[in-house]
Amino acid sequence: MNLTKTAEWQALLGHRSRLQDRHLRDLFAEDAQRFHHFSHELDGLLVDYSKQRVDRAALNDLVALARSAEVEQWRDRMFAGEKINFSENRAVLHTALRHTDYTPFPSAEDNVMPQVHAVRKQMRDIVERVRSGLWRGFKGDAIQNIVNIGIGGSDLGPKLATRALSAQQHPGLHFYYVSNLDSAHLAPLIERLDPRTTLFIVASKTFTTQETSINAHTARNWLLAAATEEWAIAKHFIAVTSNPSKAMEFGIPEQNILQIWDWVGGRYSLWSAVGLSVALAIGMRGFERLLEGAETMDKHFRSAPLEKNLPVLLALMSIWNTNFLGAETTAVLPYNESLRHLPGFLQQLEMESNGKTVSRDGEPLACRANPIVWGEIGVNGQHAFFQLLHQGGWLIPCDFVVAASSDYPLPGHQAPLLANCLAQSSALAFGKTEQQACIELAAQGLKESDIAKLLPHKVFAGNQPSNTILMSSLDPFQLGMLLALYEHKVFVQGVVWGINSFDQWGVELGKQLANSLLPALQGNPEVDAQLDVSTQGLIAYFRRYGNN
Ligand code: F6P
Repeated sequence: MNLTKTAEWQALLGHRSRLQDRHLRDLFAEDAQRFHHFSHELDGLLVDYSKQRVDRAALNDLVALARSAEVEQWRDRMFAGEKINFSENRAVLHTALRHTDYTPFPSAEDNVMPQVHAVRKQMRDIVERVRSGLWRGFKGDAIQNIVNIGIGGSDLGPKLATRALSAQQHPGLHFYYVSNLDSAHLAPLIERLDPRTTLFIVASKTFTTQETSINAHTARNWLLAAATEEWAIAKHFIAVTSNPSKAMEFGIPEQNILQIWDWVGGRYSLWSAVGLSVALAIGMRGFERLLEGAETMDKHFRSAPLEKNLPVLLALMSIWNTNFLGAETTAVLPYNESLRHLPGFLQQLEMESNGKTVSRDGEPLACRANPIVWGEIGVNGQHAFFQLLHQGGWLIPCDFVVAASSDYPLPGHQAPLLANCLAQSSALAFGKTEQQACIELAAQGLKESDIAKLLPHKVFAGNQPSNTILMSSLDPFQLGMLLALYEHKVFVQGVVWGINSFDQWGVELGKQLANSLLPALQGNPEVDAQLDVSTQGLIAYFRRYGNN
């Protein structure tokens, strides 16, 4: 089915003609209840999308588009455990990991819950032993440092959550995340860590990812240089993987291997044992609250009518901005310092899931899919790139994300933080007209000729759409809701665009080429003459200056 030929799409083109030159100032002027009409709260998580350039009629047709794309049916197929990731022949069941009651899931026949609970029990045992100091290193010391070695989904989710919830962290444990192949990531860390008190978690679904494998082997060598005996590995290494035999080959004993399954996608794996470092940081009860928050969003996603369904609404706003208003990028602007890894996490979630041009049926998509996602801590962005958001002339929808109460309260900080966040979304939406700027300049006592010179620089076009996502506080439950909200948003977008959001074939080519180039960089004199001349030239340069 060509999405752009559907009656719903055509109706939306009509709304575009009607709305594309309308200003948010007018939309707000027309409806004094606009906030009330275009915001929803779920268990303390408030999503305000009133600053999007839609009205009720356009929103109704966006919902109709979602309905005609069969979002509800696809959602039910996902929750029923169907193999909707057909290109990898896999079910998509990360929601099972936050199915907190003891009923079978996804069904009595295909119940995955016994496996989930078995691994959760293993996690609980490890978490309790490490946090209480019962887990001892090779010299009998309690663990003080946890190093998660992983990349992509085996790094971004746990890193985000550990940082986000650091205010609740165990005071005697320190957490580090190593992902980069560049030894500058691991080297300075192991230089200052004590192998006797360091526990490595090697998180890799496949256990074949080059970056993780090289870092894990270096860590292993570092440990063995101090411990000298191989049995020490059991005291300092845990693996989280769906490939236990590879982890055992590495030397990690079976009891230290926590299983994940092919039905958990890497970028959806925070809720599995990939979240072990988070559970170590905030305790098992805290981790369960994270799961409960996500489950609350799952239940909402499954049951709320599309018109009031938060992930659906966020997805539709993004589709409207991308496919009808022409936005090419979108900015994620967390205002809490503790959410500093949210943009990176969402980049993988959104762009690895929906950064595609081919439909589920192998046909070219009829329209553009995921916009480019980028972002930064909001207040820092204000003093860097916000100039472009305000006056650069690009349409850049923004997500402002902030918690109402501080996780690290100091007097005098939180209200100004919120004031900045709200001021920016308001300034971006409403801008400043020529007339307003003129009055302001005149009030400063400027001469008419000076006002005329300055005026063009003082006008803000506004009409920049945004969502504001407000959490009551940055706690595990709210964080769980927030991340599940984005996961389901990405799913809905994928369904509407007709994409399989759960594979990532686009990352393979680079991996293959890296493997084939390696021998030349490691000194094999034969450089493949078929290689493009640019790569040959770069290899020659590396051979002059590089080290292995
Ligand atoms: O290369 C992309 C990717 O496969 C991601 O999807 C995944 O999260 C990451 O690599 C890490 O993979 P693994 O957990 O198997 O090491």
